[in-house]
Amino acid sequence: MIEVKNLTKDYGQLRAVDNISFTIPQGEIVGFLGPNGAGKTTTLKIMTCFMPPNAGNVYIDDLNIYQNSIQIRKKIGYLPEGCPLYGEMNVIDFLKFVAELRDIEKASIHKRIKEMIQTCGLKDVVHQEIGELSKGFRQRVGLAGAMIHNPEILILDEPTSGLDPNQIAEIRALIKQLGREKTVLISTHILREVEATCDRVIIIDKGKIVADGPLAEIQNSFHNQNRVYFEIKADTHMLIDEFESLPNIDSIQLYSKENSLYKFYVNFSKDKDIRPDLYNFIKSKEWILFEMRAEQRSLEDIFRQLTEKVEDNE
Ligand SMILES: Nc1ncnc2c1ncn2[C@@H]1O[C@H](COP(=O)(O)OP(=O)(O)O)[C@@H](O)[C@H]1O
Ligand SMILES: [Mg+2]
Repeated sequence: MIEVKNLTKDYGQLRAVDNISFTIPQGEIVGFLGPNGAGKTTTLKIMTCFMPPNAGNVYIDDLNIYQNSIQIRKKIGYLPEGCPLYGEMNVIDFLKFVAELRDIEKASIHKRIKEMIQTCGLKDVVHQEIGELSKGFRQRVGLAGAMIHNPEILILDEPTSGLDPNQIAEIRALIKQLGREKTVLISTHILREVEATCDRVIIIDKGKIVADGPLAEIQNSFHNQNRVYFEIKADTHMLIDEFESLPNIDSIQLYSKENSLYKFYVNFSKDKDIRPDLYNFIKSKEWILFEMRAEQRSLEDIFRQLTEKVEDNE
């Protein structure tokens, strides 16, 4: 069991990770989803003892990152972002090198390497230089290296980024297969990655956890909501608060603003279509309605809403 508790990390003035907490029971495949810059890599580096947090702790069973970093590293296989490898080494030498770094007993190194070649489908490339391999194969070599010490936990930072669609499918299948035996945490900014491989998703945005649960559950919690998109032209300084006086609106977001053209999303419960009220309200204010349309929520929308950035071009 992994427990991340009240983790905070600052880079100078920037709070990259802001008091986040989550737990991952043994055997789960969890997606750590968020837009670029959300704080995923920072969190994973702290969990893998590459960097200390400013506050909070990470527990792996009865170990914690302050007192047991060496034991924790033994339990974790970590594939960093971009997967840095030694391009001039051939695959087998690289795996030997990593096995020695990991202090694997001499007698079992050969067996472990053989297993990794088998698991990660590297049989045909063992004598090739890593630098000459396709990105998909390089990622498999990275995975083999990350797992050489047979860790219980795999932490993969954007494992399919930069791969072509075939390679993505292959790596995802491999991760799913590995997930049968291990606890896996995969960071990604791509929703489809989570849909394809994970049981559960933790969504992070601007250093904060904004959702955590099974994908279907997150989707369901938005299921009873509908959404209307609308654009208005308003000469006065428009205040988003003015809409909040309308009944039956769950939330409203300013999506963009250019000069006096405002674009909004409003969420409302399914029972009541708010479009007539919304229209009458806009009319009473003498704002000009440019567009209004109802939208069904896809998971993509939900993710966007959870991680939405309001552009303020003023
Ligand atoms: N070494 C660093 N020094 C200063 N700022 C950093 C450093 N690493 C990351 N950041 C900043 O911290 C925030 C979170 O980054 P990161 O954890 O890499 O996010 P993600 O992996 O979700 O894209 C970003 O704003 C990023 O620019
Ligand atoms: Mg990252």
